[in-house]
Amino acid sequence: MENQTKNLTRRKLLKSSLKVTGGIAVAVSGGLVYRAVEEDMFSPFDGPAYQPWKSWKTDPLSFPLVTVQMAILAANPHNTQPWLFKVHQDSIEIFADRRRHLGSFDPFRREMQIGLGCAIENMTLAAKAHGYDSQVEVIQGALAEHPITEGIDKIATVSFTQGIAENTSLYQAIAHRHTDRNPYDVTKSIPDDMIQAFATECQAHACRLDIFEHGKARQSIDLLMNKATQAIVQDEEMVMDSTRWLRTTDKAIQTHRDGPTLDGAGLSPMIRVLAKIFPDPTPLEGHRIWATATKESHLATAAAIGLISIRHRYSKAENLTVGRLWQRLHLMATVAGLSMHPMNQPVEWVDRQKQLGQANSAEQHLSLLAGGAAWQTTFAFRMGYPTVPAVPSPRKPVKESLI
Ligand SMILES: Cc1cc2nc3c(=O)[nH]c(=O)nc-3n(C[C@H](O)[C@H](O)[C@H](O)COP(=O)(O)O)c2cc1C
Repeated sequence: MENQTKNLTRRKLLKSSLKVTGGIAVAVSGGLVYRAVEEDMFSPFDGPAYQPWKSWKTDPLSFPLVTVQMAILAANPHNTQPWLFKVHQDSIEIFADRRRHLGSFDPFRREMQIGLGCAIENMTLAAKAHGYDSQVEVIQGALAEHPITEGIDKIATVSFTQGIAENTSLYQAIAHRHTDRNPYDVTKSIPDDMIQAFATECQAHACRLDIFEHGKARQSIDLLMNKATQAIVQDEEMVMDSTRWLRTTDKAIQTHRDGPTLDGAGLSPMIRVLAKIFPDPTPLEGHRIWATATKESHLATAAAIGLISIRHRYSKAENLTVGRLWQRLHLMATVAGLSMHPMNQPVEWVDRQKQLGQANSAEQHLSLLAGGAAWQTTFAFRMGYPTVPAVPSPRKPVKESLI
């Protein structure tokens, strides 16, 4: 009898506590859903930070400033937008902004140099569309290790002379080019003529292109990508230098107008909304999620992996050329309805091992895959057909990029 009473009381207690917990759960999830709807977390973030993708058309600036309007839409590492422009009547000087340096993620500012090359390519395409030919004069020399400091470094001067206007498809594609980190369509491979067009473009820029679709070589590059990603995730300094740039709320996006966002991370719609509602994971957890996505989504669904190699990995001029080349390749892909996604982990790992004076296993692996000792890889990417449209990333306004 005593036992029966005890059991009854326990059952009652359990029942009422379940009711309370259930109630809280419903209230909390109801509140979260309400917040998600109220703050429109189901659609990608929008607002002033994304305006530059439209304003080149709605509010075009006069020449040559209009070339800067297009330059700032270029691809660039971690969306740091490391450029500054000094505009003259018939030329523009391009500078690197040292504060927008990725630190241990890019210790030699190699990726920064590539990003500046991407911007310069957009400038020349825009100049041509407005009836001007461009001559690009590049500051020569070798990239050296740099800490993150204040200051600027001149990179190049683009001079303009009157020519014949050409509204090319690449120019038209500038505002439609976005890095696509979503899964790609696994049923489609890259047409041969596209790969041929890429190879021709690389040759014209004196670069080597290696494309890996199937077989042992593809397995080998996938293995290196995963190893490099794991090495980065285990490197606390790299994780922190990358996390500094992540923008996970609308407020952060509108304030900074730079950095990678949740909308551009290639998450499924449901995970994206949950990621926006819940507090950010720790930097390490966030990078572990990225490593899983690298293996299970980015590599698993890529129709092809590409490596771009040059003669000297730390040449300023050659990396600037690779930037110009990458921007063109991505624009060509955009015109053809293909998706592109730089995956530079293997080369970031090469830089990091060099900086730390470690045996450079990443460099050895890359040289086996891409031309041996005569070539040095500086850029890695995946390509394929999209499953969902890629979204734009935020941009600072033109006036913040002017000296
Ligand atoms: C040199 C360079 C390296 C990059 N490396 C990576 C990378 O490793 N992983 C990645 O997801 N995106 C990478 N990107 C893509 C940039 O993050 C992207 O261009 C930037 O966030 C701006 O977005 P958008 O290309 O959609 O305009 C790289 C871009 C450049 C130019």
